[in-house]
Amino acid sequence: MRRILFGCLLGAVLMGCPEERAGGPDKMAGDKAAADKMAAEKAMPPKPAPVEVTIACGSQGQDQEACQAGADAWAKSTGNTVKLVAVPSDSGQQLTQFQQLFAAGSADVDVFRFDIVWPGIVASHVIDLKPHFKDAELDAHFAPIVQANTIDGKLVAVPWFTDAGLLYYRKDLLEKYKQQPPTTWQELAATAKLIQDKEKAGGNKKMVGFVFQGKAYEGLTCNGLEWVDSFGGGTIVADDGKVTINNPKAVAAVEFAASLIGKASPTGVLNYAEEEARGAFQSGNAVFMRNWPYAWSLAQKDDSPVKDKVGVMALPKGGPEGKNTGTLGGWNLGVSKYSKKQEAAISLVKYLTSLEEQKRRAITNSFNPTIAGLYKDPDVLKANPFMGTLSDTFTNAVARPSKKTGLKYNQVSTEFTGAVHAVLSGKEKAGPAMQKLAEKLEKMSDGGKW
Ligand code: GLC
Repeated sequence: MRRILFGCLLGAVLMGCPEERAGGPDKMAGDKAAADKMAAEKAMPPKPAPVEVTIACGSQGQDQEACQAGADAWAKSTGNTVKLVAVPSDSGQQLTQFQQLFAAGSADVDVFRFDIVWPGIVASHVIDLKPHFKDAELDAHFAPIVQANTIDGKLVAVPWFTDAGLLYYRKDLLEKYKQQPPTTWQELAATAKLIQDKEKAGGNKKMVGFVFQGKAYEGLTCNGLEWVDSFGGGTIVADDGKVTINNPKAVAAVEFAASLIGKASPTGVLNYAEEEARGAFQSGNAVFMRNWPYAWSLAQKDDSPVKDKVGVMALPKGGPEGKNTGTLGGWNLGVSKYSKKQEAAISLVKYLTSLEEQKRRAITNSFNPTIAGLYKDPDVLKANPFMGTLSDTFTNAVARPSKKTGLKYNQVSTEFTGAVHAVLSGKEKAGPAMQKLAEKLEKMSDGGKW
């Protein structure tokens, strides 16, 4: 209807309305133009009706607001709307919730944020995103992250941001007590205790030395792997599927970590996840903190008591012979195969994982891009100097054994955190705990085949 009216109006201006110009050569030209226009309109795909896409995109630190800002920008440019669903901050609990939705074949959530250790677990519940991305788009991301998200040739999720464990320290306190940033875990323990005790003696009763993620959950798997691997004790399960955790270096690493509790670290860390550790550090009450990059932008906020007092460095070595190990983390976006809005969901994933959006999130929220080129971007480096200085930490971050253990990874991780937590809390000795753990994992491993 509107088209007819519009045609008449346009026709009236250019050549008069149809009644006035019936017959004559002009009519034939007009008919042809109208026919061409109709054919062109027919060839154009119809604009899809606006939809509401639901995304589960994390709830820690600035996860929600950063996701909302990106989602809003996409919604504005496409005419669609986005709903964010709340998820637990503990990644293991998130997985449980997602698995319940998958088991029910639920279409409630269209886009999921998946942990880098989950592709093997969630692969059968998502669509293959590979056909929807150009090779050049995927090649811009770090290849190992794309590989980690690829299961049997299927692109389960597209990289959104990457993570590696980092050591945050109070530059001002180290200077005050004439201490150097630690190069080994043993030095860290000594410096943390020294400054903690002196600050306490000076009346600063809340000061603690070193905070980390010591609660029995996925975060402790990340911290535990850092201790074990940095002492030369391997990665729990080797790439060939062999269980390696029961070795003297791994035992020494876990024993060392237990020696922190109640000395350089408060007993409270046994119940700390990322946000509890950040709470202590950002309020000015800890000398050192192990955390992910997201904590940087929050520590640097105008209202942060530690703004401009924080240094970021690689986690220390496990002794002079050890190495600097940061566990590889990070999150990726996948589209549910049960979603009824897959086209719009794919479009949202494309937008959120794009270079422009990753750059915005890096600058505003210190989420490490997965697009290599952004590590040369002056705006990104200005906001996050550590993304330039610690490039080794990011490129050599050590993966948890999720690729090999696949569907069983979550059980492996739960057994590992259980064993490490028992040692940290003094319930068990490191030697027997690692031996028992290895026996359980071996049983689970089906002779290393998994
Ligand atoms: C971070 C990491 C993720 C890890 C989680 C553990 O979010 O990116 O990979 O599993 O911390 O708490």
